[in-house]
Amino acid sequence: MAPPAEERWLNGDVVVVTAGGTREPIDPVRYIGNRSSGKMGNELAAAAARAGAHALLITAAEVPPEMPGVDMIRVDTAEQMNSAVRTALPGARILIMAAAVADWRPVGVASHKLKKRPGTWTLELVPTVDILAALRDDQARRGVFVVGFAAESDDALANAHTKLRDKALDLIVVNDISRSDIAMGADDNEVTVIDSEGVVESIARAPKAAVATAILRVIRSRLR
Ligand code: CTP
Repeated sequence: MAPPAEERWLNGDVVVVTAGGTREPIDPVRYIGNRSSGKMGNELAAAAARAGAHALLITAAEVPPEMPGVDMIRVDTAEQMNSAVRTALPGARILIMAAAVADWRPVGVASHKLKKRPGTWTLELVPTVDILAALRDDQARRGVFVVGFAAESDDALANAHTKLRDKALDLIVVNDISRSDIAMGADDNEVTVIDSEGVVESIARAPKAAVATAILRVIRSRLR
């Protein structure tokens, strides 16, 4: 059953959510990746759709089963995610970057599967595009409420605050990835939402669907 009209506060608004860990290819069969499952982003897109949004999920993880009100785009690399975000942004009201974007990629991609050989092997890496940082002073993000995620294992709040400032975010959702019960890939999460002034809300450990709803509630209070 659809939620009542007052719960559909995002009626018609476009909400762009990124999810999953990007995969940066080494050769046709190998890549550099991370443990992000995409679950948190999936739940955020689903929660936005339940709130009446036209949600667009740009995911580098496995595409989830169809969800009403959610369009999905599958990407592999940071560069592809960047292009998809840029294409989606005009007209969007909210961007939530829940994806774990790789920070480096191999400098080149071998066209054939690299053969095993004796001895050590050094892989040269170059930085990927920082999608949020590149949007910082860009016209494309004008009028878009931008939410980042911070995956932190030490000094979580201080590091997240630096990211919020450097990437000029409206909010950042801080994830403590050193805890095994809420680590990447877990079904539950526990997060702290901060803005430039400090902690806005601590969201207690709960299934990711409930955490997603709580994050959207914070966003709603900020958009009013
Ligand atoms: N992000 C991004 N592009 C990147 C890396 C990260 O847009 N190349 C976004 C993430 O989606 C997230 C936020 O920036 O919303 C913070 O990501 P995180 O991995 O926590 O931090 P980094 O900026 O990559 O810094 P570090 O890895 O040093 O913690």
